[in-house]
Amino acid sequence: MSKQILVLPGDGIGPEIMAEAVKVLQLANDKYSLDIELSFDELGGAAYDKYGVPLADATLERARAADAILLGAVGGPKWDTIEPALRPERGLLKIRSQLGLFANLRPAILYPQLADASSLKPEVVAGLDILIVRELTGGIYFGQPRESKVLENGERMAYDTLPYSESEIRRIAQVGFDMARVRNKKLCSVDKANVLASSQLWRAVVEEVAKDYPDVAVSHMYVDNAAMQLVRAPKQFDVMVTDNMFGDILSDEASMLTGSIGMLPSASLDANNKGMYEPCHGSAPDIAGQGIANPLATILSVSMLLRYSFNLSQAADAIETAVSKVLDQGLRTGDIHSAGMTRVGTAAMGDAVVEALRSL
Ligand code: IPM
Ligand code: MG
Repeated sequence: MSKQILVLPGDGIGPEIMAEAVKVLQLANDKYSLDIELSFDELGGAAYDKYGVPLADATLERARAADAILLGAVGGPKWDTIEPALRPERGLLKIRSQLGLFANLRPAILYPQLADASSLKPEVVAGLDILIVRELTGGIYFGQPRESKVLENGERMAYDTLPYSESEIRRIAQVGFDMARVRNKKLCSVDKANVLASSQLWRAVVEEVAKDYPDVAVSHMYVDNAAMQLVRAPKQFDVMVTDNMFGDILSDEASMLTGSIGMLPSASLDANNKGMYEPCHGSAPDIAGQGIANPLATILSVSMLLRYSFNLSQAADAIETAVSKVLDQGLRTGDIHSAGMTRVGTAAMGDAVVEALRSL
């Protein structure tokens, strides 16, 4: 039976970068006879414009029925003033939560060709290869109660709640340890256990899970220290596992160590490795429609999709090799451009990856 992929280009630069990723996916499909079928729908602001909600029920059902989902990015100033419950981001949070995509894998890998694009010294980042495992369906993003209200004295106040149950922590810790096991057997769990009750439970449960992985060296770090260590000496890290909000923040930080957030893919997986794949970056409304966005993070998300959801490592490897080849050729979008390199736009970058893949 053919493998069904639901493509959700989203907002801002989403449609532009997705067009390039789809070209690459279609070529990989032909070249390696992958038997993949694509269908398309909307998420985020584009869905709000078309259906009046950021994630339509019918879209959610199609996502449930699909074998994997490829997502561009959501959000933009156009929808900043609509009712909070209908904002584009709500569609993204809902699809993550409804599909149970609790394990978010965000690799931060420095391509040797891009060492100059990092804001850190080349020797600090050379060879960098970190995997952030972010809990994606719990914590403060989803905790109840949450409320905005006006107090009796007329002052406005608002609060959120940061809950974690033992089972939610255990399953994401297990993903972290499993990943560490197939990498360098080193896991750093990041929390704020000196202050937060949820983090104290987090640390205790990670310690319990660690007993099942005696071959993995586990350490714990407070999130403020982890943020500092990431820019001081990032190569001390291999796999980092952390909660939803800390993971959101640290993964943006880690991505910039590699030169550009425009290079980094991500996978969000459920308990059966069904996944949604998306670039780590956002919808970049400031450059949308100009044809200058970097499509490589989305193209590399295709590679992650083939690898994690379908176990098609030959095709996944080939896409990664093709990306590396275009970087060797000196092609750079604006975000990763440096002196002496050839500046190209979104479509030219996508076409170059297609050509490199074709000639492998
Ligand atoms: C991310 C994004 C989202 C998040 C936003 C768009 C809701 O920042 O995927 O990192 O906070 O999870
Ligand atoms: Mg984020």
